[in-house]
Amino acid sequence: MENFNQNNDQKTNQNLNQKLVIEQSPPLKGRVRVGGSKNAVLPIMAASILAEGRSVVKEVPDLSDVAHMELLLKHLGVSISRDIGAGVIALEPAALGSARDPGERPMEIPYKLASAMRASFMIAGPLLARTGGARIPLPGGCAIGSRPVDLHLKGFAALGARIQSEHGFVNMSAGRLKGADIYLDFPSVGATENIMMAATLAEGQTVIENCATEPEVVDLAGFLNMCGACVRGAGTDTIRVDGVSGLRGGEYAVIPDRIEAGTLMIAAAITRGDVVLENVISDHLRPVIAKLREAGVSIEEAGKRDGGGADETGAMLRVSLPEGKTLKTVDLKTMPYPGFPTDMQAQAVSLLIFAEGTSLVTETVFENRFMHIGELKRMGADIKIEGRSAVIEGVKTLAGAQVKATDLRAGAALVLASLRAEGVTEISEIHHIRRGYDGLEEKLYALGARIKTVEA
Ligand code: UD1
Repeated sequence: MENFNQNNDQKTNQNLNQKLVIEQSPPLKGRVRVGGSKNAVLPIMAASILAEGRSVVKEVPDLSDVAHMELLLKHLGVSISRDIGAGVIALEPAALGSARDPGERPMEIPYKLASAMRASFMIAGPLLARTGGARIPLPGGCAIGSRPVDLHLKGFAALGARIQSEHGFVNMSAGRLKGADIYLDFPSVGATENIMMAATLAEGQTVIENCATEPEVVDLAGFLNMCGACVRGAGTDTIRVDGVSGLRGGEYAVIPDRIEAGTLMIAAAITRGDVVLENVISDHLRPVIAKLREAGVSIEEAGKRDGGGADETGAMLRVSLPEGKTLKTVDLKTMPYPGFPTDMQAQAVSLLIFAEGTSLVTETVFENRFMHIGELKRMGADIKIEGRSAVIEGVKTLAGAQVKATDLRAGAALVLASLRAEGVTEISEIHHIRRGYDGLEEKLYALGARIKTVEA
């Protein structure tokens, strides 16, 4: 456990020098278990600093983003032990200082730590509420757009925090936060989560309107309530938080990753395979299931599951595209949940490349999320970008090429396209993929994909 960070640094360095080599693969067949959700576990780890006791989180995927969050929390004095194989992490924020004590300064996150991962900003709300201050680098742009945090800051200010930006950092300070009515101009996932976390320790009630309804927001509320918070309405467009004076730790298992599930569903469809996914919550996948069915993919659901925790229902999805059935064109638009997830847009483009005819994919959530298209075109895809839409003309086949993952989901899209492309594809910059997929190569290999990792 002690040398975990060292191992992780080695792993990150290794990733920089590794490539994925993928050959056209036979139809994928078999069963695969979906891991815990990246976007649920990151805010839950950040939220652990709100509690006074130890929190144990289960179903934690082995991702470099999780390792980054671990480094960040350790920097703040949280003691952490992690059993990567068992997917369990224990977090104890005993040594956290208080910026409210005379002469104490707010805790600071160094630029180097924060710039490695945008979700670093999820520390802001918990740190402000628990210690009365925070000094955090403002996130800049990333490969998919400028990604501001104005809605997070507007929420903190409404809760009574003093906020000032200087030299690329945002300084925040407050006595005990005070509940407020907050309307979000856009249902931002991160802003909803950050404000919700901060409000748990505020005095009085906070109402967040036009908030995000994503399953990961509901999971975070589940964790907070398990710690003794009073959060109601998560999953609807209005969340009410009645502040409490303190939170305790506890045990919590995160929901399965709906984006990993969706990616594996497309892997099955794109290879004309027949794959059973275990550990899924099909309700979280409604928009993905609907669009894949529209494209002609067969999806059978078994068992029913509503939330996190150990899966005792045996919920499963069987995804197949039988021989002889052609893929149909689909138009889709990314939207906040329950709309089609922006995190599945790139993978959907890869599938629609093989549909007969023209498909239209419109990105409404992020401003610049078409980086994968240039790489897919290098493999022979016929796609035109017109403003916020991609016009995809179906082709019979792609040709393997040397391509690079420009971001996490763009990388996943290239992996999917490579499974169907003729010849060999080499994908570089795969550290992006490791940010958000735990063992993607191993899982695909076990289903019959011709995929291997090589040193560059
Ligand atoms: C989260 C997910 C990410 C997913 C995204 C949208 C995590 C760790 N990441 O990111 O995988 O793609 O939701 O489902 O959970 N915006 C503002 N001002 C703000 C905040 C956001 O203008 O203060 C804009 C963003 O620039 C973007 C849109 O709102 O255009 C959506 O962002 P948001 O929902 O906040 O995404 P994240 O929480 O960053």
